[in-house]
Amino acid sequence: MSSKPHLHLYISLSLSHTHKQTHIFGAMANYIALALLVLPLLQVVVTGEPNIQDYAERFEKKESCDLYHGSWVYDKSYPLYDSSQCSFIEVSFACQRNGRPDKLYLKYRWQPSACDLPRFDGIDFLKRFRNKKIMFIGDSLSLNQWQSLICMLHTATPHSEYKSERIGPLSTFTFTEYNVSVMLMRNAFLVDIEHKRYGRVLKLDKLGYGKTWDGIDVLIFNTWHWWRHTGREQPWDFIQEGKRLQRDMDRLAAYEEALKTWARWVDTNVDPEKTKVFFQGISPDHSNASNWGNHNGIECKGETKPVFAPAYPRHHPAELVVEKVLRTMSKPVHLLNVTRLSQQRKDAHPSIYGLGGHYGMDCSHWCLAGVPDTWNQLLYVELISK
Ligand SMILES: *[C@@H]1O[C@H](CO)[C@@H](O)[C@H](O)[C@H]1NC(C)=O
Ligand SMILES: *[C@@H]1O[C@H](CO)[C@@H](O)[C@H](O)[C@H]1NC(C)=O
Ligand SMILES: *[C@@H]1O[C@H](CO)[C@@H](O)[C@H](O)[C@H]1NC(C)=O
Repeated sequence: MSSKPHLHLYISLSLSHTHKQTHIFGAMANYIALALLVLPLLQVVVTGEPNIQDYAERFEKKESCDLYHGSWVYDKSYPLYDSSQCSFIEVSFACQRNGRPDKLYLKYRWQPSACDLPRFDGIDFLKRFRNKKIMFIGDSLSLNQWQSLICMLHTATPHSEYKSERIGPLSTFTFTEYNVSVMLMRNAFLVDIEHKRYGRVLKLDKLGYGKTWDGIDVLIFNTWHWWRHTGREQPWDFIQEGKRLQRDMDRLAAYEEALKTWARWVDTNVDPEKTKVFFQGISPDHSNASNWGNHNGIECKGETKPVFAPAYPRHHPAELVVEKVLRTMSKPVHLLNVTRLSQQRKDAHPSIYGLGGHYGMDCSHWCLAGVPDTWNQLLYVELISK
């Protein structure tokens, strides 16, 4: 499959929403609404982050809202941590260390339209998850979000002890004082790849890794990016489903079959009383600058601001597949629906400031600090709301 994911960008402020805010917050909201409307020109500070206790109380009273519908606003208190104080960041995400000159991209906070996200409270997080294990399972976008969460938590308690280890595909970072483990299991497809005499076979209907996910309190799955790879980047030679062995097939269809296999595993094996399951939504690339009207642009190179104007109100094809499969499941799986909010962040990729320096072009991963911090804020809210 050669097609790149389509961008769909939109501005979320509608008049009815402005009206609603006015009703709730009065004069302050008028100011906020006006500020949001002129934001691309003026960049003003909007303060609107309740603390976590207030948020939890409001949630008890069922005053929740669609957290994924909103906009990026300038906030001078951002980012949530100083990346130079978080030594765990992979060189390919360490944009500032790699010489990225601009900093505005660090200053955007996600603002839902109908409510406020609570400010991330790392100590509260660690206390809530005392003696618990949280595991990200997936490709390097999972690595991106895992490192972000470690930085967010480490920043809250910079002097407390931690233990960090990697055994094969499994990395575990433990905040010893709280006995909270934040883990990463590298697994690009979720389903199995078997090595046969005739080659490597991607088995769409087999999932043998499930036992390594046993006994974990929070599982956050992700897979997509590797399903598009061809040529030397493709780590298999055949695709197999049942008895049918093929050289290749429609990649979205293969993706859907694999997700169904994963869904069956969750439905059969997960005890929702013990384990909360999330699917990390599709993380969008920004490899076609024409999508946001920059016809001379080279992928995301040189982009310093989010996209504020609506452009392609189209769904990401892989996101549609994820949603379709999730709808068929019997166990509760929560979608971290980050695709659209991330699509607006053409400015937030490493571009030429990843991969350790001024070469290569990375418009798939995200600089840290950055967008995955927002994914983790949303994860935090979803976790305390359930
Ligand atoms: C730490 O948490 C794990 C479960 O995640 C538990 O098995 C272990 O006993 C705990 N250790 C201590 C010292 O409490
Ligand atoms: C890039 O986007 C433009 C506009 O959406 C489209 O016409 C063009 O085909 C795209 N190019 C590639 C290589 O996908
Ligand atoms: C995820 O977000 C998209 C676009 O914002 C929306 O159309 C879709 O309904 C959302 N999905 C879920 C499960 O909330």
